[in-house]
Amino acid sequence: KVRVAVLISGRGSNMVALAEAARDPAYPAEIVLVLANDPQAEGLARADAMGVATRAIDHRAFPDRATFDAAIDAALREAQVDLVVLAGFMRILTPGFVEGWAGRMINIHPSLLPLFKGTHTHAQALAAGVRLHGCTVHFVVPELDAGPIVAQAAVPVHEGDDPDSLAARVIVQERRLYPAALALIAGGQARLEGDRVVIDRVPADGALFS
Ligand code: GAR
Repeated sequence: KVRVAVLISGRGSNMVALAEAARDPAYPAEIVLVLANDPQAEGLARADAMGVATRAIDHRAFPDRATFDAAIDAALREAQVDLVVLAGFMRILTPGFVEGWAGRMINIHPSLLPLFKGTHTHAQALAAGVRLHGCTVHFVVPELDAGPIVAQAAVPVHEGDDPDSLAARVIVQERRLYPAALALIAGGQARLEGDRVVIDRVPADGALFS
C-alpha cells in the first residue's frame, strides 16, 4: 500500500474521512502519520482515537519557514511516506520543500480553483456573487493554490447563505471528494505528468467531477 501522511492544522474532518476510507482493505493507501503544526489541533486526538500515529511539530518553535519545513520533511522521510496529503494545513510551504515532493503532494482547497485562492474562500465567493462554489483537489506546486487539478465538486450558493452555511455545504463534498481522489492517485490511475494531471480512466459515477 502507498504510505500517506496527512498534514493538518485544526479540526481534521477531511483527515477523518481519509482515515475511514483507508480502513477498507481494498483502499490503495494507508495513513501512516497525521502531522500537525499546532500541538492543540483537534484532529490529533481524532487520529489517535482511530489508532493512527500522530506527531506535532510546532511551527512557532522554528525561526523561519525553511527550518520548519526541514523538520516536516525529516518527519515524513522518517515515516517512509510516499504521498503527502494536505488537509486543512494552514502553513505556506517553501518552494524547496514543495519541489522535494513534486508529484507526490496534494491539497484540498475550499473553492472551485482557480477562483478564490488563499483564505476566507467562502466569504470571497459570496462577495463575488457566484451561484456555484465548491472544492478542488490539486497537486501542490510552489505557487499557492495554483497546482494542476485532480478533482472538483460544486455546490449551489443559496439565497441567505453566510460563510458558515456555505462552508458547511462545501465540507460535505470535500469529505467525499478527497478519499476518491487519493484512491486514484495512490492506485496509480492518476498522476502528474509535467504540469498536467493524467487520469487513465475517469470514474463514470461523478466521484471526481460533479
Ligand atoms: C477545509 O475546508 C479545507 O478545504 C480547508 O480547511 C478546512 C479544513 O477542515 N483548507 C484550506 O483552506 C487550505 N488553504 P478540516 O480540518 O475539518 O478538514
